[in-house]
Amino acid sequence: MKIGVVGTGFVGSTAAYTLAMQGVGSELVLVDHQPALAQAHGMDILHAVPFSHPVQIRSGDIADLRGADLVVVAAGVNQQPGETRLALLQRNAAIFGELIPQIVQAAPDAVLIIATNPLDIMTHIATRIAVAAGLPASRVIGTGTMLDTARFRALLGERLGVASGSVHAYVLGEHGDSEVLIWSSVHIGGIPLADFAAARGIALDDALRAEVDHGVRRAAYQIIQGKGATYFGIASAITALSRAVLFDERCVYTVSAMHSEVEGIPSVSLSLPGIIGRNGLTGTLKPVLNEAEHAALQTSASVILQHIQAMDA
Ligand code: 2OP
Repeated sequence: MKIGVVGTGFVGSTAAYTLAMQGVGSELVLVDHQPALAQAHGMDILHAVPFSHPVQIRSGDIADLRGADLVVVAAGVNQQPGETRLALLQRNAAIFGELIPQIVQAAPDAVLIIATNPLDIMTHIATRIAVAAGLPASRVIGTGTMLDTARFRALLGERLGVASGSVHAYVLGEHGDSEVLIWSSVHIGGIPLADFAAARGIALDDALRAEVDHGVRRAAYQIIQGKGATYFGIASAITALSRAVLFDERCVYTVSAMHSEVEGIPSVSLSLPGIIGRNGLTGTLKPVLNEAEHAALQTSASVILQHIQAMDA
């Protein structure tokens, strides 16, 4: 099982490290526009391999992705403190215009995992280019709101005194400022959130909801302010998604993909719960939402569509 990682900045290199440590894939190829950087990360990770799983690691160029089952695309510039994800669009769209056709040519059977911001629009661009090059759209998956969903679960788990892995909660829409926390369907151990909180004597008031919402929506800004970039969370999301693909796990993750219609908004890429397997996105679930959540998802879809249309104009 061969995995390529294109772009070995903070996100790509940490994803490669996490994949190696968790033994996902048997061969890892690191590619970067600065070959010395990819080579150095490859060497550094290789020295961690004797303590974990037997994985072959090397650096190379895009042609070395030949035969890859999966390619993680994390190339592009990232946000500066205070900058929005959407501000990166022009620069990263130009990079994808060059990279994606070459990746599909080198690895025509791969599933592509897109991790570059602004995530949904980069997924949209990558899907268009990949489909034009002959790849089915279902083989292009953006990490989307997997990270936001994880942040939501982590914060709720802390507040409720349960493991975050036992919290079923989802963030949908844009991986960005307009994302939608789906409070109406949060469950813990099969019990709706309100009932769980009441039974445990936890006050589930507007202040708590606002704090959790802020914590999820503003997490990236806070982390980037403190250390310049976010990479541990997203690397773990990429690794989980890679495992789901390579082992045909059929896990449900909130991934970004191109949808023909969402809440009446046509042809837009954003996150909905998707079933992930060997061929990529094998199905999309239609979430059960309340009225406010439907409206917020529609707003989020409109934000993304406006940027796609501006880019196309
Ligand atoms: C994150 O949410 C910056 O998109 C990145 O951590």
